[in-house]
Amino acid sequence: MSPTPVTFASPTKPASWSWEATNEEIAARYNVPVESIVRFDTNTSPSPPSVVAELLAAANWEVPLSEYPPSDYRRLVDAAAARYGVGRDELLVGAGADEVLDLSAKAFLLPGGAAIVPVPTYPMFGILTEQRVARVVRVPRRGADAAYALDVDAVRAAASEPDIAGGAIPGLVWLCSPNNPTGRAEPEGVVASLLEGLASDAASAGRRAPTVVLDEAYIEFAGSSLAPLRETYPRLVVLRTLSKAYAIAGLRVGFAIARRELIEDLAVYRPPGSVSIVSVEIGAALLADDRIARERVEATVAERERFAAALAAAGWLPLPSVTNFLLVEFASAVAADAAAEGLLSRGLIPRTFPAGHAFAHCLRLTVRNRAQDDRVVAAAQEIARA
Ligand SMILES: Cc1ncc(COP(=O)(O)O)c(C=O)c1O
Repeated sequence: MSPTPVTFASPTKPASWSWEATNEEIAARYNVPVESIVRFDTNTSPSPPSVVAELLAAANWEVPLSEYPPSDYRRLVDAAAARYGVGRDELLVGAGADEVLDLSAKAFLLPGGAAIVPVPTYPMFGILTEQRVARVVRVPRRGADAAYALDVDAVRAAASEPDIAGGAIPGLVWLCSPNNPTGRAEPEGVVASLLEGLASDAASAGRRAPTVVLDEAYIEFAGSSLAPLRETYPRLVVLRTLSKAYAIAGLRVGFAIARRELIEDLAVYRPPGSVSIVSVEIGAALLADDRIARERVEATVAERERFAAALAAAGWLPLPSVTNFLLVEFASAVAADAAAEGLLSRGLIPRTFPAGHAFAHCLRLTVRNRAQDDRVVAAAQEIARA
């Protein structure tokens, strides 16, 4: 049986996409108690910061829950502008980075157009491009010895040579740093040199440079945002989220940071109230306290190194990571499938990769907390002995 836990059948799902199986589906399929299920496939956190429970208990919201959220999400925008060091008019709020990615596809991709996706990467980039009836131009990343970095020359060629792009010149480039699922950030200077190259290629061909969407969902774990590059590359959109380092994935808060003109292009497609008033209040409170993400990141990084060492001691091969997840390599896709089955039968859900994917011989595991991670380590030891 295939271990790929993607069974939820949406009547409207496009062929390219199926949602993750729910905890209940996994529990039923593997005959384990639903309370024992732990998700290692979503790169989330086992618990939100403690202040979230305090805020929910106090519940003295300034705006009652019977009203819609303010359409400008003012408190959230103010808090994000201060935290990220950008202007209020350089920010757009969305229901998670995923909604902002969706708005980016709507704003910057025309039907019949094309977008560059350096692969392997976050699958939503390809899915959203296809949903816009645009072409996905996949450009392979460099290998493990180059930390899976972007191949700058190959991306530039695909962005400027119709033969390589397979038709119209792509108007959009999707980037992700740190990248999911490789767990690595682009090496210093790589994104800047790509942007410089794209700008000069476009200028010499008399074309507008492509819009570049840089997904920084995991940036807090790995250093500084590249949002300042919008000064020199005006068509840069940087995405941030409160789902990862701030640990409130369930509240759905994400942002675009870009020059005002691009924010205006995105805002054309923005629904007025997709972020709840509870999310606005809690998101604003978390962003206002600079210790919250910092402490989370420190704890996650320490646990990541402990978890990786324990997995290695059990005979698995976790690759280096600067994020809150580990890519674990196996000898073959068959061995990765067997390990996935072993985890699933114990109620532990890994991210698997389909046959033919560059990482079909790997599993991706979220770094959670010591107790939960140790269930994976124990499973790895047992699977190795079996
Ligand atoms: C690269 C990347 N971007 C975006 C998201 C989704 O973020 P959000 O929860 O803010 O929609 C994820 C979630 O795993 C991700 O890995």
